[in-house]
Amino acid sequence: MKVVYEVGVIGCGYWGPNLIRNFMQMKKTNVAKIADLDPKRLEHIKELYPSISPTNDYRGIIEDPNIDIIAIATPVKTHFKFAAEALAAGKHVFVEKPIAASTAEAKELIELAGKHRVKLMVGHTFLYTGAVRKMKEIIDSGELGEIYYINSQRLNLGLFQQDINVIWDLAPHDLSIILYLLGKSPVAVSAAGTAHINPRVEDVATVTLYFEKDIIAFVQSSWLDPDKIRRMTVVGSKKMMVYDDLQPSEKIRIYNKFVEKPTYYDTFAEFPYAYKYGDIVIPMLAGGEPIRLELEHLVESIEKDKELLTDGQNGLQVVRLLEAANESLENEGRKVPLDN
Ligand SMILES: NC(=O)c1ccc[n+]([C@@H]2O[C@H](COP(=O)([O-])OP(=O)(O)OC[C@H]3O[C@@H](n4cnc5c(N)ncnc54)[C@H](O)[C@@H]3O)[C@@H](O)[C@H]2O)c1
Repeated sequence: MKVVYEVGVIGCGYWGPNLIRNFMQMKKTNVAKIADLDPKRLEHIKELYPSISPTNDYRGIIEDPNIDIIAIATPVKTHFKFAAEALAAGKHVFVEKPIAASTAEAKELIELAGKHRVKLMVGHTFLYTGAVRKMKEIIDSGELGEIYYINSQRLNLGLFQQDINVIWDLAPHDLSIILYLLGKSPVAVSAAGTAHINPRVEDVATVTLYFEKDIIAFVQSSWLDPDKIRRMTVVGSKKMMVYDDLQPSEKIRIYNKFVEKPTYYDTFAEFPYAYKYGDIVIPMLAGGEPIRLELEHLVESIEKDKELLTDGQNGLQVVRLLEAANESLENEGRKVPLDN
């Protein structure tokens, strides 16, 4: 077992520095090399961490025999190329979300990781937050009753992307959270969206996920909203839960509210609704920076050869939903069935 794992990070834009900082703070990892095409980004990181070697050629990282783990935080269309080359070179790979730009690419990465007996992890960061872990615990305990629907909103003004639409940019988080919370995949997906600023790139969209037993989930993504909103509502037969990620604390509220299903009625005109109201409970959440917990999980998985929560398969599941959503967008919102 290694005392310190040497890490190379490809991509030092907005998100890469968060990975670098956490790898540098962890006892068992050290960032030895970073790569970016932009010299200003390399200079910035070098100022913060003088021990790191910067390069503008990612191959300098992949070909370095001393590097054990490669983390990729570059634009989505480049994920596959970097990850595939890193896996083929026998490195453990952490790729930011979404894991790849297509299911074919994601499947190939999973195969490569298996062939070279290395770990492949995707940055579905929210699954490492105290809030999402708590929501899962509450749902699994049956406290909410039978789940009826989930509504997830991730809205803001910008940041506009050129190469991927708003679904591929923002929805991976919501999709990974919903899959985790429900513990199952949808049977069909549909999507509606439009492009207002760049005519080829949808900037507002809603993805609908259809699950068995009439469970439905809506994921609303927008780069064109005056308010920053990061909110998920889970409605069950016994209680309702709201997760507001923008709250500094008290991110989750459980509402003792439900509508009682009538056991008997004669006609629809007489359909008797009974609304129940009760206390609102704010559960305690575990602390810790999610990126740190995510990367510690990767190191533990390498050391103990343990399964990853957010492995290549998990990355593939999300890409499959993104691909289906795009297919639906191209076909005027048609429902795309999924084989599970
Ligand atoms: N987990 C999260 O919560 C989270 C949050 C934000 C972004 N992300 C993900 O992180 C990734 C990067 O997003 P970002 O917002 O940091 O983008 P960004 O554009 O700010 O940064 C990307 C960086 O990659 C560099 N780059 C591009 N091509 C390269 C190449 N061939 N070699 C080396 N460097 C190259 C660019 O110069 C840039 O500095 C995306 O996959 C995004 O989805 C994840």
